[in-house]
Amino acid sequence: MPDSRITDSPTAEENEALIGRAELDDLEAILAISNTDVDEVIHTVKDEADAIFTWDYSLARPALRKLYEKAKVGQWNSTTDLPWDTDIDLEKVVSSDQVAIAAGLDPNHYDGTVLESWGDKEWLDYGIQNRKWTLSQFLHGEQGALLCTAKITETVPWYDAKLYASTQVVDEARHVEVFARYLDEKMGGGYQINAHLRMLLDDIINDSRWDMTYLGMQVMVEGLALAAFGYMHQLTDEPLLKKLLRYVMSDEARHVAFGVLSLKEVYEHMSDAEMKDRQEFAYEAAVRMRDRFMSQEVWERMGVNPRDVLPIVMRDPTRDMFQQMLFAKIVPNCKKLGLLDRNDQWLRHRFEEMGVIQFEDLEDTGTEYIKFELETAG
Ligand SMILES: [Fe+2]
Ligand SMILES: [Fe+2]
Repeated sequence: MPDSRITDSPTAEENEALIGRAELDDLEAILAISNTDVDEVIHTVKDEADAIFTWDYSLARPALRKLYEKAKVGQWNSTTDLPWDTDIDLEKVVSSDQVAIAAGLDPNHYDGTVLESWGDKEWLDYGIQNRKWTLSQFLHGEQGALLCTAKITETVPWYDAKLYASTQVVDEARHVEVFARYLDEKMGGGYQINAHLRMLLDDIINDSRWDMTYLGMQVMVEGLALAAFGYMHQLTDEPLLKKLLRYVMSDEARHVAFGVLSLKEVYEHMSDAEMKDRQEFAYEAAVRMRDRFMSQEVWERMGVNPRDVLPIVMRDPTRDMFQQMLFAKIVPNCKKLGLLDRNDQWLRHRFEEMGVIQFEDLEDTGTEYIKFELETAG
């Protein structure tokens, strides 16, 4: 007999429909989604959207045109601008970064668990695998962004936005290139795409509504990426990675601004029902990204059953802080777009449940890209 306490609440029912499980933290359901075809090379997704021409070439959206001008002068060359000849001792780099963040987890939190027997060597190995995994997911996400911005160039009906989106295609190509090269040359290879991330990218590509590509990619995926890149940039002393991330961030901040500036105009005029669809999509995206940070593949690679350790990881305060920080850009941007509070504060309540609502009043990313420009880089 099903547990009526769980299945009868309206949130549980909505969760079933949106994310495929009643409880946000249902670990079994999260782990049940995994990449079962790690040798897959080609992955095909049906793109349901129309390609749209516009014959109106007038300057209708000066903010987007300004961003386009910024993008033209903000280009950099991934081959010549980064110090690829840097010699990297992976163990040294990761162990020095771990001094700053205690492996991203607090080893003391694992007394009495399967990790109790881990010494420095195991924690360091975990750190290296985790770094490879994290950069690999950045890489796959970048390819998602490459496909999404090519799609936006075709599907957005506004001339100014088509111009801008075309520059982002080049930016994303560069990002794919630098992460792939770093993983190959400096880390000895990476990981396949995480299944939760792949589900999210598939949903974004598949959706026929042009604004959903923006919402899924520019606001949610890139919002999270900007926060995650910023964290790693601050943390690492490895000079090539630090510079690589700094350069990528200068582009990413423009990309998030592109999403916020474009969607603000669209969402101001939407009905409650239309906005509900967007709120649900944003929630689903947030949950998929949260699920992927269980990094189940890393535990498997370390010979640990994720089921034995993740219930404790989920309560690790060090990790919890990191997990929340990933939403520091997403939440204020959702607020600016009116997504938090429409329909009886539907998304606000979901973000409260996820423990990330505290970021709502941080600076949104509509103009923040100015701070990330390379000329002003510290
Ligand atoms: Fe990117
Ligand atoms: Fe981007």
